[in-house]
Amino acid sequence: MGSPVVLGIESSCDETGAGLVRDGRLLGHALASSMDEHARFGGVVPEIAARAHVHALTPVVRGALADAGLRAADIGAVAVTTGPGLSGALQVGLAGAKGLAYALGVPLYGVHHLAGHVAADTLEHGPLPDPCMVLIVSGGHTSLLLVRDLARDRIVHLGDTLDDAAGECFDKVARVFGLPYPGGPAIDRTAREGDPRAVPFPRPLTAGPPEKRFTFSFSGLKTAAARWAESHHAGGRPLPVADGAAALQEAVADVLTRKAVAACSEHGVGTLVVVGGVAANSRVRALAEKRCTAAGITLRVPPLRLCTDNGAIIAAVGDLLVRAGAEPAPLDVSIDPSAPLEYAALHPVTAGRALAA
Ligand code: KG4
Ligand code: ZN
Repeated sequence: MGSPVVLGIESSCDETGAGLVRDGRLLGHALASSMDEHARFGGVVPEIAARAHVHALTPVVRGALADAGLRAADIGAVAVTTGPGLSGALQVGLAGAKGLAYALGVPLYGVHHLAGHVAADTLEHGPLPDPCMVLIVSGGHTSLLLVRDLARDRIVHLGDTLDDAAGECFDKVARVFGLPYPGGPAIDRTAREGDPRAVPFPRPLTAGPPEKRFTFSFSGLKTAAARWAESHHAGGRPLPVADGAAALQEAVADVLTRKAVAACSEHGVGTLVVVGGVAANSRVRALAEKRCTAAGITLRVPPLRLCTDNGAIIAAVGDLLVRAGAEPAPLDVSIDPSAPLEYAALHPVTAGRALAA
C-alpha cells in the first residue's frame, strides 16, 4: 500500500479550496472565491468571507473529489489551515475538516497556511532540496526563510517585514491609483504599459544597517507612492498610472530579489523558492530569474495557479506530514489567527484536553 490520499482544506481568507494529494502528486482540486463580493468594499470583509465559506465548503470538497475521480471513502487523511488568517473564515474550514475526519475515521492535521505556500512548489517541481531558501511574499506576509525538512524541522526566519507585506503594499497603492481590487494583479497588468524608471521610488532597507539586510519594510514605499499620486491630484494633473505601477512594481521586485539572492549567497544555499500570491507577479518572476542565473542559483517558482490560496497547497503539506509520520491533531484542535510560522504543522488546542482521534 502506498501513502493515503490527503484532502486539504483552505479557508483562511476569501478563497475556499479543497485539494487531493498523494505521494507529492496533485490528484484533483476545486476552488470557490468570494472575491467579487468584497470588490465593492475595496478589501476582504471577514463576515462575508466566513459566510461564503459555509456555502462553498461542501461543493468544493465534492468538486475536488470529482476532479480526481475519487470518492469520500478514498480519503485517508484530512489537512486543514488552522492559521494564520481571518478568525471566522478559519473556523468554518476547521469545523468542516473535523466533521469529515471524524465521519471518515481518518487523522486530521492542522497546517500553517504559509507552509502551504512553501509546499505548493513541490506539486510542480518535486521535493524541496535540503536546505533551500524560501522567499514568501503574500498579501499578509513577506519573509526570507531557511528551510530544511519542511515536515520535520523548525523553519528559520532570516528576515520578515517590519510593517506592510509586499502584497499589502500593492493592494493599498492600487487603491490610491484607482485600480480595482485585488490590487496586485491590477498593478501587474497596468505596469505593462508603463516605464519602470519613470518615478524614483525608494528601495527600503537595502542600504541600511547590516543586521537589517534580510528585513523588509514596505510602508515607506507605499507612502511614497501615495504622495506621488496626491501630488498629481493636487496639481490637477492626470495621474500617469501605468508609470506609477511599473515603478512601484520595479521597486518591490528589486528589493525582494536583491535580498533573496544575497541570503542564498551568504548562506551557501543553491536553490531559491519564491512562493505566495506576489510570486505570481511577472516582474518579480523575471527579475528573480535574471538575478538567480547571474548568481548561479537554481530558481523555483510554482506555476501561477499554485501561487495563490487553494486547497491543493494545504493537502501538499498534509501529505508531507503523513509521510514523515507526524502526530495528527487532537479533535479539539483550534485555530490560531496570528500563528507565527515555526513548523509546517500547526496544532493549537483549545483547553489542552485532547480527545485523541
Ligand atoms: O498568498 P495570497 O493568495 O493570499 C495571502 O495569503 O495573502 O496572496 C495574495 C496577495 C494579494 O496582495 C495580491 O494582490 C497579490 O498576492 N498578488 C499579486 C499578483 N497576484 C496576486 N501581486 C502582484 N502581482 C500579481 N500578479
Ligand atoms: Zn496565502
